[in-house]
Amino acid sequence: MQEDIFVSESELLKQKEYSEKVNSVLNARFPVEPPKAFIHTYGCQGNVADSEHIKGMLVEMGYVLCDDDSQADFILYNTCAIREHAEDRVFGNVGALKKYKKDKPHLIISLCGCMMQQEHIAERIKKSYPFVNLVFGTHVTHRLPELISKVLCTGKRVFCIDESEGVIAEGLPTVRDSGENAWLPIMYGCNNFCSYCIVPHVRGRERSRRPEVIIDEAKKLVGEGYKLITLLGQNVNSYGKNCDFRMNFAQLIREIDSIEGDFKFDFMTSHPRDCSFELLDVLAESKHFCGHLHLPVQSGNNRILKEMNRHYTREHYLELIKYAKDKMPDVDITTDIIVGFPGETYEEFLDTLSLVKEVEYGSMFTFIYSPRKGTPAASMPDPFTKKEKTKWFLELLKVQEEIAAARGE
Ligand code: 5AD
Ligand code: SF4
Repeated sequence: MQEDIFVSESELLKQKEYSEKVNSVLNARFPVEPPKAFIHTYGCQGNVADSEHIKGMLVEMGYVLCDDDSQADFILYNTCAIREHAEDRVFGNVGALKKYKKDKPHLIISLCGCMMQQEHIAERIKKSYPFVNLVFGTHVTHRLPELISKVLCTGKRVFCIDESEGVIAEGLPTVRDSGENAWLPIMYGCNNFCSYCIVPHVRGRERSRRPEVIIDEAKKLVGEGYKLITLLGQNVNSYGKNCDFRMNFAQLIREIDSIEGDFKFDFMTSHPRDCSFELLDVLAESKHFCGHLHLPVQSGNNRILKEMNRHYTREHYLELIKYAKDKMPDVDITTDIIVGFPGETYEEFLDTLSLVKEVEYGSMFTFIYSPRKGTPAASMPDPFTKKEKTKWFLELLKVQEEIAAARGE
């Protein structure tokens, strides 16, 4: 059962007090105009949603948000660990921030998010990037006022990486900057442990927000004029599992759909293993579904799917797609695909190509496999070179282009 995961009222109150404390320190240190904060978000919409809370907390503390890092008094990178390339970019960009410290020694440089939740990364920052003042992991975002207060009052570097399985903090302030689109997290963490994926290692166990809180937030967003509400979770199809309330994802969708108003809803990410026919029925009947279904297949080959620990077959996936298309002929299906999983042969890759041709995706997010430290796939034999995998990858892109061209895009 999901219990003891909610951040307590008293802890949230404590953070409000820290926020007021930071506010008065900042007022004293910046008497002419308020200090500026620059936030850059890497990675997925889950990170974007976290950054919206971070911005809300910073504004409450007395910062004004800016989009020019050279003007900022506080710089924060919310980082992503999904592939090596994402991490390399962060290291490069952090290195480039050092120059700002020369003219502005009071500048606070801070790093958070999935990458920082990994011990070896936090250690590397500690040793090799001494100008970084604050590093915190994914489970302590709500404690930002306390952490900034520590940095401001002690002048020391602060590292806070909590090894817990994750919490839910409700009621945090939010600054949304996505125009008419709003992100609405319905759950956090992941229990799937796909063998290539770092997410369960850095985002903790799966935990669902209470339905009444989600529905209230959705109503508020519709009332505020948001036109597209995207429900977020690593695996939205397992919403409500192990919870004391009785509501699954299909039922939650029904509730969201019954909200009156001029809006559409989307959701991501769906896992084909847990995507139910009931959900597809509910979507087909709903008034507000935007018509986009992101159902990442990752590979079209059954041996590779097994090695990936995905718990579905090519045949089951295609059955879901057929059912979805029969019920919703205009549905726009999109996917994620990994090319070059350890040990994948060219023949196995060809199964992915044939699946792509069969499904005719609206669009695809395609990736070359990137080993992630601590995941099972990272220690599997990986005989094919990057060059070979890149060749297959380009072949996949070409097929997708041909499908788009045939559709007249
Ligand atoms: N290497 C390459 N791609 C990955 N993804 C997740 N982990 C890896 C990895 N180690 C891709 C998957 C996932 C998307 C968000 O990123 O396709 O669905
Ligand atoms: Fe990146 Fe995954 Fe973290 Fe999102 S959850 S920021 S994709 S590592």
